[in-house]
Amino acid sequence: MATLKDVAALAGVTVTTVSRMLNGRVNVSAETCEKIRAAMRELGYYPNEMARSLARKNSSFIGMIVPSAKNYFFAELIHYVEAAAEKQGCRLVLCVSNEDLEKEREYYLMLLSNKVMGVIIANYGTHYDEALRSSAPFVIFGQPSTPDIPSATTDDYQGGLLAGEHLIERGCRHLVYLSANMEKNEVSRLRGEGLADACEKAGVAPPAVVEAGWDEFISMRYDETIRRTFAEHPEADGIFASNDIMAAGIVGYCQRHRISVPGRMKVVGYDDTSFASLCAVPLTTIHQPIEELAYHAVDCVVKRAEGETAPTSAKFPVSLVRRETT
Ligand code: RIB
Repeated sequence: MATLKDVAALAGVTVTTVSRMLNGRVNVSAETCEKIRAAMRELGYYPNEMARSLARKNSSFIGMIVPSAKNYFFAELIHYVEAAAEKQGCRLVLCVSNEDLEKEREYYLMLLSNKVMGVIIANYGTHYDEALRSSAPFVIFGQPSTPDIPSATTDDYQGGLLAGEHLIERGCRHLVYLSANMEKNEVSRLRGEGLADACEKAGVAPPAVVEAGWDEFISMRYDETIRRTFAEHPEADGIFASNDIMAAGIVGYCQRHRISVPGRMKVVGYDDTSFASLCAVPLTTIHQPIEELAYHAVDCVVKRAEGETAPTSAKFPVSLVRRETT
């Protein structure tokens, strides 16, 4: 494999000159730059971008840490973040933590030590608080613990409220909220609050709450929690699930147990990824504007890397999409 030394020798310049050109320093003439580029082409030499960014003390790389790349919400988020980064002339460095906190921390430190432009963290957890005191620009998806952390969020409370109002309007009186782990996941807690308020406003009994485990979130198999939901709440006539994968699991359970949807049981999911409309029974769900979230996050990282310090947090509205489960 060709080295910097080979390029310098073929171009007839010193290694320092090649290095200066690659690091974008101005004192290399256009003629010399062209000679170096020609030598690089001839030798098939591709500079190591990470090494170059270390030398320049900045880079065009944006880091992104996701808890799962398999979950449809995060898969779509990654898709749009990559597209948004490309539009800004940046490259995405993707880290998947599978909800392993130690791994998340290692990835975060790795990204910082490689001098990425900024880090996009999805989902945020308070364990990041310490790391976020660093000077690197970062932006998070999900509810931040303090308002000074730049974030791209959606109105999770409103999502829960819309789901509750819709289920009640469709005749449900015994609601269940199938949630992610609420202690760790602020967005799930807010969605639950919205649902509870919809019940209170309508004079309907407060929703029962069933929490799923993180292992289920990673495996996307909620069978045990769904089975428990039906065993513990036989009176339920409407379920609001904190993501579309859970909602599809509930519909599947109903089909296997001859519970008609939406006749006997009504189901509302969350996210509205492409998956929601592709299910055998297309899901009624709460739409999150994933593309807008992604573009905002990338824009935010780029602006902060360029020194803009104005508040860059944004909260996007959500909406109800009615399909065949209600
Ligand atoms: O499973 C995906 C869910 O996790 C989404 O609703 C997203 O907002 C996150 O909380």
